[in-house]
Amino acid sequence: MAKLKWGMIGGGEGSQIGPAHQLSARLDGLFDFCAGALDHRPDYGVDYGQRLGLGDRAYGGWQEMLQGEKKRDDRIDLVTVATPNSTHFEITKAFLEGGFNVLCEKPMTMTVEEGEHIVSIAKKTGNICAVNYGYTGYSLVRHMKAMIARGDIGKIRLVNTEFAHGHHADAADADNPRVRWRYDPALAGVSAQFADCGIHALHMASFVTGQNVTKLSADTVSCIDIRTLEDDAMVNFRMDGGAVGRLWTSSIAIGRQHGLAIQVFGETGGLRWSQEQPNQLYYMPLGERLQVIERGEANLSPEADRTTRVTIGHAEGMPLAFANIYADLAEAISARKEGRAIDPAANLYPKAEDGLRSMAAVHAVAASGKADGEWLDARPKSMR
Ligand code: NAI
Repeated sequence: MAKLKWGMIGGGEGSQIGPAHQLSARLDGLFDFCAGALDHRPDYGVDYGQRLGLGDRAYGGWQEMLQGEKKRDDRIDLVTVATPNSTHFEITKAFLEGGFNVLCEKPMTMTVEEGEHIVSIAKKTGNICAVNYGYTGYSLVRHMKAMIARGDIGKIRLVNTEFAHGHHADAADADNPRVRWRYDPALAGVSAQFADCGIHALHMASFVTGQNVTKLSADTVSCIDIRTLEDDAMVNFRMDGGAVGRLWTSSIAIGRQHGLAIQVFGETGGLRWSQEQPNQLYYMPLGERLQVIERGEANLSPEADRTTRVTIGHAEGMPLAFANIYADLAEAISARKEGRAIDPAANLYPKAEDGLRSMAAVHAVAASGKADGEWLDARPKSMR
């Protein structure tokens, strides 16, 4: 596979997610970091990019980067959009239309209509549009999906998923400008905690079961009363393969750290995985003893083997899960360039359609929360 060229927008010095992208994109030596518009302050972005070795491809803004890269014969093969949420739509749209493949941070857009637009542009242009539900890159999450698909726990009855942390629980800090904007509808949109974390849990439920969410009922609350948007939500949902779903997301759960976890219960067994202990998958076959599946074990699925790097017993964590999304994208881009079929075990990266489904769910959760938990269709119109 020829080495590919990668660029990033946002993810500047001091940002939360930028360093994880830099690490993950280059981890397997599949991408070179070639271009970036890394900061909303042009001078800072150029200075940081030059210190990272980007030379004259350290741009002052994303429009300049788009024009600059379009002119080059050695233009980037993939751009990551790691800016704040409200900018994702216009940047992703412009780069897809400019002929680039895009990995967009979640949430992909602010509205369902924008999500529909991105899906149709990706289809029309033929460029790849992926969304960074990066936790689906964990080896044992891929294995969980493979086990469910091959029927190891039978028909799925129930999915219980959560993403609950306690990092916005301090009422005395709630007015801090760095925290407050997240709960301000003008900046965050219709939902705070569900749009930020709940969508990871909901997407994970669809990813591992292979089922899509059809309808939902939400109880949304602001436990800290100066907040307009929710800091806690309990969402009941139903899936198109018949599974019943339960989801809890919170930012006021003091003592919780990251807090993403999922349990799936089928007719002949159960599975349990947690992001804070990602190297173990708990498998309970009906009527037998609990089994602990370790990442890196022999005889796991091809999907698990493809996404594991160090041997059993040595921990792998979040940047390696994100690196698996990049490895999938490198395979998808290279397969297109070489005119061959993509390795099916790599065709698991989350796509624009997943980003669109999440937006429809975000808006359904916000509307259901306002309507005392009324059950609402959670699907985008184009997927009903
Ligand atoms: P942040 O506020 O820490 O950093 C944002 C960066 O983007 C800063 O460097 C800022 O200067 C830059 N920026 C802002 N506007 C820009 C523009 N127009 N052009 C170029 N650069 C610009 O934000 P954070 O927490 O890193 O989040 C960024 C995105 O990543 C968000 O959409 C967030 O939801 C997502 N995220 C995803 C995670 C995941 O697990 N997939 C985890 C954390 C964040």
